[in-house]
Amino acid sequence: MTTLTHRTGRAARQGLIALALSAFALPAGTLPAIAQDAAIYSGMDLFHPVWAKNGLVSAQERVAAEIGRDIMAQGGNAVDAGVAVAFALAVTLPRAGNLGGGGFMLVHDAETGETHAIDYREMAPRGASRDMFLDAQGEADSDRSRYTGAASGVPGTVAGMKLVLDSYGSMDWADVIAPAIRLAEQGITVTPDLADSLAGLRDRLTRYPSAAAIFYKPDGSLYAPGDTLVQADLARTLKKIADEGPAGFYTGEVAQAIASSVQAAGGQITVEDMAAYRAVEREPVRGSYRGHEVVSMPPPSSGGVHLVQMLNVLEAYPIGALGQNSSETIHLMAETMKRAYADRSEFLGDPDFVDVPLDALMSKAYAADIRDAISASFATPSEQIRPADLAAYESDQTTHFSIIDKAGNAVSNTYTINFSYGSGLVADGTGVLMNNEMDDFSAKPGVPNAYGLIGGEANAVEPGKRPLSSMTPTIVLKDGKPVLVTGSPGGSRIITTVLQVVMNMIDHGMNVAEASSAPRVHHQWQPDELRTEEGINLDTIRALRAKGHAVTVEEAMGSTQSVMMDPESGFLLGASDPRRPDAATVGF
Ligand code: GLY
Repeated sequence: MTTLTHRTGRAARQGLIALALSAFALPAGTLPAIAQDAAIYSGMDLFHPVWAKNGLVSAQERVAAEIGRDIMAQGGNAVDAGVAVAFALAVTLPRAGNLGGGGFMLVHDAETGETHAIDYREMAPRGASRDMFLDAQGEADSDRSRYTGAASGVPGTVAGMKLVLDSYGSMDWADVIAPAIRLAEQGITVTPDLADSLAGLRDRLTRYPSAAAIFYKPDGSLYAPGDTLVQADLARTLKKIADEGPAGFYTGEVAQAIASSVQAAGGQITVEDMAAYRAVEREPVRGSYRGHEVVSMPPPSSGGVHLVQMLNVLEAYPIGALGQNSSETIHLMAETMKRAYADRSEFLGDPDFVDVPLDALMSKAYAADIRDAISASFATPSEQIRPADLAAYESDQTTHFSIIDKAGNAVSNTYTINFSYGSGLVADGTGVLMNNEMDDFSAKPGVPNAYGLIGGEANAVEPGKRPLSSMTPTIVLKDGKPVLVTGSPGGSRIITTVLQVVMNMIDHGMNVAEASSAPRVHHQWQPDELRTEEGINLDTIRALRAKGHAVTVEEAMGSTQSVMMDPESGFLLGASDPRRPDAATVGF
């Protein structure tokens, strides 16, 4: 993997919008002498990774990233920083950072060489039932599964952070929550991105007065960039969590407020559901790609399984020689993506409820059979692709952060409340925005969810079940060292976004900044559409259309936040996706 090579102009030639280059970016192709006194390099750059010696945090919002950096500068490890960032983002990035949602975290322990997967995905309440999102005509009622109390699963973030800190952190619980309390209490400065997003989501956030009272001024007007947004109720909730541990959230007045607000909005979460929530550690999925080990999130995420499956298929093609974002490469990737997403629709669900044929889906033999079905010349119409017979093989508004410390411990965390600002419901008096993750279940098998994803029986609603996710926190190891720690938001597009960052680095020799900024493509089987960002050149698009692909050029996909350890120098490198303005990679 070429990680430090400067390859000027690749992304620029591909037509990405010019973004302000960081004043702190390194000059081309150079590594300066290591700063002696914790000099801080940070920024967002299309071509150059941010570097650091002692610790690096890449997150979708700068203030939270800096909190993680400061925790490590105080002697905390990557996990301590990860928990602090997760709580801070609940304040600074309310559209996706959360207490009222859930997610997945991978933790790589440099000393043991082990990678652990923490599942803190939301769970369906006990009152949930298979047909709860069908209307009187038996049709899927997306308003109910997205914007009402019934949209919310029991939140997992607080339990997940406690599990991970107790298992792999080194600092006190209250100390890693303290920065978030301070931010909620004293207020955050509204950035242009936050102001835009609150303006754009006004309909959703004014449906419930409890949310409107927080995110808009008392006269209903908008916060402007530079204003201070105080979240006093959220500060109180965070203090209870800091003082009482998860019991301050899952029992007592916060749990009661969540249950009663959700029920008043037509949902079923009870105080018993809150008290029963458990985060769990699972065995990560593992694959290999051109001499690298790929470790990712197992079900109830579909991300890791299909990332490994797609890499298995693509490994046998000379992708590097075919060229980054050439029509040949995109064709092979799209044909591979279609088949993986077809399988997703059939086989993936919560492993506590259904048997997911992981070994078969991730077998190299199955990958070879997928390759046999792919034509080099023509796109196979999606209607001709069915989920496999495996017998023989036995949102968009999620957010990701990646952290690495000088020992090589790494955290890859993706968490979400599903849509921007979740269901839009804030539990009264708590400041907690509730998720609408129940929409990730198949309301009706065969009917697409908000991301156009079709699910099957394996992902039908059941009490206590976790909805299928696409979140793909991933760590790529080379000789045991984390040479890429990454992940992204983007709903169904998460898996293919992560795939492309991995391939951009391994196949195309890009450094982590270039790999993050290069234009992306996506195919998810249904709809039969090859979606690209701006920046794929017109000749390539014409060639893809000639092969039979229905190419659409649409808005940007994903927001990767990536860090790594350079295996030769031991330097820490990272990059924030230039697609999101507030993102930052910061180190010391
Ligand atoms: N809510 C998006 C996902 O979990 O994939």
